[in-house]
Amino acid sequence: MSDLDSSILSAFLEAGKSPVSGDRLAKELGVSRVTVWTRLERLRTQGFVFEASTRKGYTLTSVPEVLHEALVRAQLRRLKVTAEVEIMAETDSTNSEAERRLASGRDAPFFILAQKQTAGRGRLGRKWHSDYPGNLYLSLALRPFIPTDRLKPFTLWMGLALCAHLDEVHGVRLGLKWPNDLQAADGRKLAGMLTEARLDADAVRDLVFGLGLNVTAKSKDFPVELREVASSLVMAGKGAIEINLVAAQIIAALERAWDDFFQDRWLENFKSYWKRYDNLTGKAVTIQLRGKPVAGVVQGIDDDGALILKDTNGERILISSGEVTLPKV
Ligand code: BTN
Repeated sequence: MSDLDSSILSAFLEAGKSPVSGDRLAKELGVSRVTVWTRLERLRTQGFVFEASTRKGYTLTSVPEVLHEALVRAQLRRLKVTAEVEIMAETDSTNSEAERRLASGRDAPFFILAQKQTAGRGRLGRKWHSDYPGNLYLSLALRPFIPTDRLKPFTLWMGLALCAHLDEVHGVRLGLKWPNDLQAADGRKLAGMLTEARLDADAVRDLVFGLGLNVTAKSKDFPVELREVASSLVMAGKGAIEINLVAAQIIAALERAWDDFFQDRWLENFKSYWKRYDNLTGKAVTIQLRGKPVAGVVQGIDDDGALILKDTNGERILISSGEVTLPKV
């Protein structure tokens, strides 16, 4: 019955600083005054603060600092987004969770988020630190049935669309380190993406886009080995951030980015976003290519999102996936 909670929370979000009358809310939602009161009491135990203003009703003055499903749904409703969203307290990996549900026949698209992951995965078999409940661990599950070739620029496009969203909505200007890192202005990693797909003969059957985005973590919230290299929206931005609102906005942005990709509208912005957010062009880098390091200077990307590298012999190489390292300064 978290739909009733989210309807109650929607009414408080709409009202802003004005008080909401319990009687009116009960009438509008078609439930008793006691039901509303009981729900408010339960929401209080979950971290919401409703302040009573004499005879006029209640005002919502504080919300939980961790993901709360009914609140994310209420925020999505305000943004007029109808995405299917589930928020778990804990799972091994939201990507694995999404893959299991797709395999068992659940309708797609849907989003799965978790407050914590016990086996969060990064690229190249790495671990994604997922202990801190003020960060986002999110997967978007899709069943696109598109030719496998069309998938090549997908992750890069999603990353660029996220950079544009964070720039426009949060005023946080990130850079994209090809192919899947989102970096703050100081070069620290703020988010990473992991796309996993199950392919039929020549079509993409199940597709899971995973995003780890650090939101309210401060340096001390990361394990010691990440403190010098990790950032978050709070560390890179200008003010207080409410994770449930950020989650809803990111869900809306990802849904839009996927729709643009699927409907072939993404090309309208792909190159201009790359120009604005790319962190590599003109830089000397080393790329691990099938286990061998290749050094060169990045020239840009091609239409499929492959990186163009001019190697030390002046030869132009196209790289569709790899791990880029920049020289230490
Ligand atoms: C990387 O930079 O190496 C990619 C990190 C991707 C992490 C996210 S967190 C949500 C989703 N579930 C996972 O297990 N991994 C991705």
